[in-house]
Amino acid sequence: MKEITTNRIVVVGAGMGALYAALKLAPRPVLMISPEVLGLGASSAWAQGGVAAAMDEGDSPVSHARDTIAAGAGTVDPKVATLVTKEARDYILDLTEMGTPFDRTESGDYVMSREAAHSFARVVRVKGDRAGAEIMAALIETVRETSSIQVLEGTMAVDLDTSDGRVTGIAIQESDESRSAPVMIRGSAYLLAGGGSGGLYALTTNPPRIRGQVIGMAARAGAVIADAEFVQFHPTAIDVGEDPAPLATEALRGEGAVLIDKNGHRFMPDVHPDAELAPRDVVARAIYAQTQAGNRPMLDTRQALGDEVATLFPALAEACARNGIDPAKEPVPVAAAAHYHMGGIATDTNGRATLENLWVCGEASSTGLHGANRLASNGLLEALVYARICAENIERTLDGGTEIDFVNVMFDGAGDAPNEAAVMELRQTMTNNVGVLRDKVGLETAIQKIADLRDANSQSPSFLNMCATATMIAVCAWQRQESRGAHERADYPDTLPGAGKRSKVTLADALKVQDQIRKANQ
Ligand code: SIN
Repeated sequence: MKEITTNRIVVVGAGMGALYAALKLAPRPVLMISPEVLGLGASSAWAQGGVAAAMDEGDSPVSHARDTIAAGAGTVDPKVATLVTKEARDYILDLTEMGTPFDRTESGDYVMSREAAHSFARVVRVKGDRAGAEIMAALIETVRETSSIQVLEGTMAVDLDTSDGRVTGIAIQESDESRSAPVMIRGSAYLLAGGGSGGLYALTTNPPRIRGQVIGMAARAGAVIADAEFVQFHPTAIDVGEDPAPLATEALRGEGAVLIDKNGHRFMPDVHPDAELAPRDVVARAIYAQTQAGNRPMLDTRQALGDEVATLFPALAEACARNGIDPAKEPVPVAAAAHYHMGGIATDTNGRATLENLWVCGEASSTGLHGANRLASNGLLEALVYARICAENIERTLDGGTEIDFVNVMFDGAGDAPNEAAVMELRQTMTNNVGVLRDKVGLETAIQKIADLRDANSQSPSFLNMCATATMIAVCAWQRQESRGAHERADYPDTLPGAGKRSKVTLADALKVQDQIRKANQ
């Protein structure tokens, strides 16, 4: 394989964590591996609600941490919850300084949205439901002006090279993997910020490229993966047959929108005292049950927002218009869709993975903040906080200067892209058998199917990465014989007593279980 050695820190991904870390690393030279043109394709740009931060005088980081711990259903690390929530305000001020046009009240205060399981309205927002896109735009403009950051657009990471448990290189390819063979980049340090796994499911709100590849790549290199079984399903993906499914932000329910069935019955008050603002896992399960029962659940914004829905929530209005729905006049059909992976590459409070010279931030990581059920709008906050932590920690490990070398990658040869039919089969398997409601039989079906698909399509490293993550999710879900947060087992409906235990496994551990299940079912 062709090799390039550089003094640059290699940052994989181009979402909020990647961009913010690259800026915090400046003037250290960074090489950013971005699968698309900056701005398109990153989950962060699709985030609607905003960033959770205790900005109001009556609110406090302690209360924010308390809500985070309660939502996480017994597996949040309280140290991490304190660490992330205590500085949230500073990040909002920093993003404001970089040009993010947060919504303001007439007196100049930040407009705060209310989202599920927050005891306070504490989500700062931008142009209603455009937080992700607007924050990303401000960061991208700053990155473009920062000479220490070189962005390789149209490239993706496919493999990590290691020696004695230390990462020594990252193999990259053109994003259309059939066009070229991988090239090994040997940098000074490696930061993975390439998103989660939602796109491993057929029904998802995540961008098409976000299919667990980065988590799987680290798992294949031997990194420990934590909380793999905890996948969050968003209750209100707009159910119009689009792939990915457009999101109807939870902030709509914060504004009073209600959930009704095809007969107009508002069902959430029957399920939970907080009705539409119950924790996300509770609402997702209720929506899923309505869908399964053929009751066609819908989000009704008519009473709460009327005609204002179009100006206050432009992303919702746009998605509805594309599909011939007028939310001011009719309810919007919704379904529960894979949205956020609480699990990921296990990291410590310095953002370090279990492999040396490897740091992780954002959804690819599992820091212990989210537990079994992420509190709404804590995802972008965590990405920002750990991006800075990773940048500072990487800086401390590096010596030498900050002179900038330009990396000139000439791709040639040919590569192996994932087989699209196999990818679709994998995604359908995950939705059917490792989704909102799980059981032993379905999980074993999935675990075997993933192995069959992997064995039949092993020439594509990206597909192997997807299968590695899918295996970890399914095996950890099979091993967790209880229901907790977003992980609901039909055959183990109760939560085990006592403190919840986080799962931490390597791919080698998961593959052993997969083999046993395959043999037992032969
Ligand atoms: C939403 O806006 O409903 C999603 C926010 C999040 O996932 O944190």
